[in-house]
Amino acid sequence: MKRMKYMMTLLCAAQVCLAGWANAAPLSITLPPETAVLKPSALPGYPLAQQKCSICHSADYINFQPPGMTLAQWTAEAGKMQHVYGAPISDQDVSTIGVYLAVTYGSAQTSDADVQAALNPSAGPPPAAPAAKVDAMALLQSNGCLACHSIDQKVVGPAYHAVAAKYAGDPQALVKVASSIQHGGTGKWGNIPMPPFAQISPDNLQTLATFILQQ
Ligand code: HEC
Ligand code: HEC
Repeated sequence: MKRMKYMMTLLCAAQVCLAGWANAAPLSITLPPETAVLKPSALPGYPLAQQKCSICHSADYINFQPPGMTLAQWTAEAGKMQHVYGAPISDQDVSTIGVYLAVTYGSAQTSDADVQAALNPSAGPPPAAPAAKVDAMALLQSNGCLACHSIDQKVVGPAYHAVAAKYAGDPQALVKVASSIQHGGTGKWGNIPMPPFAQISPDNLQTLATFILQQ
């Protein structure tokens, strides 16, 4: 405290005193730029890293790593702290912190597929957008089914109404009808064969069969 007073006296001697301590900015001590903190980020690994990565050493260990490190490299670095130096972090922490470090200090982008996968480990592949589910009527049209079928009248092939009636109560209906569409066939409704539609995807076969059985 004595020393502090002495310094104040010195400063007053330098005529800053009149300006008031608060305005003495030009003489205030300038700290070197603060490098020993982690770069802020909205990623969940930021608070986690602040909490867990400063237990043993300063953030300079991270700041001084070479730039451009990938997600795999940063995650391995965090994993090394866990396995080799005994940092008290879980595997999930390693992954979350790895993402933060790779995006903030390394070459990774938040939009990268591996970054997204690490951020949402339980999400799996993104769910198919509802819009991607092709409308059954559009499928009937695009595959030319309506040249031979209509909903409620026999054309070349049976009316879908009649098909639905035939399979009513059959627990295997969906599988059988999907298979009929995929493989085509003859003899179930007469002698005229139905051509196979092997190129239709399983999803679309399902959509078509479901639709037809609802008629
Ligand atoms: C339990 C103590 C401990 C914790 C917690 C810890 N580290 Fe380390 N870290 C070390 C030691 C020990 C070294 C090696 C020091 C040396 O070589 O001087 C080190 C070194 C580093 C280095 C320098 C490169 C290297 O591999 O030596 C980086 C980068 C690093 N740590 C990142 C992290 C990150 C990121 C975290 C948080 C996930 C973390 N550390 C948490 C102990 C720890
Ligand atoms: C060239 C005419 C033709 C086209 C095109 C055609 N079908 Fe058929 N379809 C038939 C005929 C003929 C039958 C009756 C076959 C039989 O008797 O086994 C039939 C039967 C069916 C059946 C009943 C199968 C069963 O198990 O009873 C379904 C369901 C069906 N078609 C759906 C479709 C769908 C869906 C498409 C388009 C992807 C399509 N068809 C395109 C002629 C056609």
